[in-house]
Amino acid sequence: MTTHQELGGITDEELVNRMIASHDDRFDEAFWDYFSDQVVPHLPSHPSMVDLGCGPGLLLRDLRDRIDGARLWGFDVTQAMLDYATDKVVYDGAAPQYELLDVARDPVPLADGSVDMLSMVAVLHVLNDPLAACEEVCRLLADDGIFLLQDWVRTPLPVYLERMVNADLAAEQQQTMRRAMLRLFPVHNKFTVDDWLWVLAEGGLKVLNHKHLRSPHFSTFVCQKA
Ligand SMILES: C[S@@+](CC[C@H](N)C(=O)[O-])C[C@H]1O[C@@H](n2cnc3c(N)ncnc32)[C@H](O)[C@@H]1O
Repeated sequence: MTTHQELGGITDEELVNRMIASHDDRFDEAFWDYFSDQVVPHLPSHPSMVDLGCGPGLLLRDLRDRIDGARLWGFDVTQAMLDYATDKVVYDGAAPQYELLDVARDPVPLADGSVDMLSMVAVLHVLNDPLAACEEVCRLLADDGIFLLQDWVRTPLPVYLERMVNADLAAEQQQTMRRAMLRLFPVHNKFTVDDWLWVLAEGGLKVLNHKHLRSPHFSTFVCQKA
């Protein structure tokens, strides 16, 4: 499986730092308002929550702060992400359980129907077989459990570059950034919203709600097992 790091031509540590730096942009007030409206009403008390491709653990930290008594698990294929999540992040309560796992290859070590909310943020687009991933999500979800997918959606190249290349940088840095983003363009722009809806439906999931929360490049889908 090709990793995010290989696709972006960056090291594990650079990806960790990129995810930390962009966390507040991905999980901003609009995200949490949407989460309160669309996800929280479906959660039981003390829900089991799993973040697949959890990165540096900051979403799980935020969930620890927001959802009383949640039991939290994070899985990721990159050890540097889990090291950061385990050693550097401060949790207000019990730390989530973290485990190194390639979700494209190995099943998640949790029982069928045991998960009340499973999230994947900026991960599914990179997996070669998103339908197999959806099948695993369906195996894990409780009957009323929620799959929260947040991922890239296709936009025209100029719109993508305008969003991704910081106009405040010096001209030379902008050129370097533009080259890096051109390399990532096909990775981030694989799926339209309709493509994602197709993947989710074919993967056995029904979409309760979906919305562009963060510019036209990123969409959020709230799903349950069909
Ligand atoms: C773009 S980062 C997003 C991290 C996190 N979800 C966030 O939003 O901060 C993608 C993450 O998915 C992980 N990942 C990619 N492929 C994976 C796989 N096959 N199994 C588990 N994790 C994977 C990467 O290691 C990385 O931490």
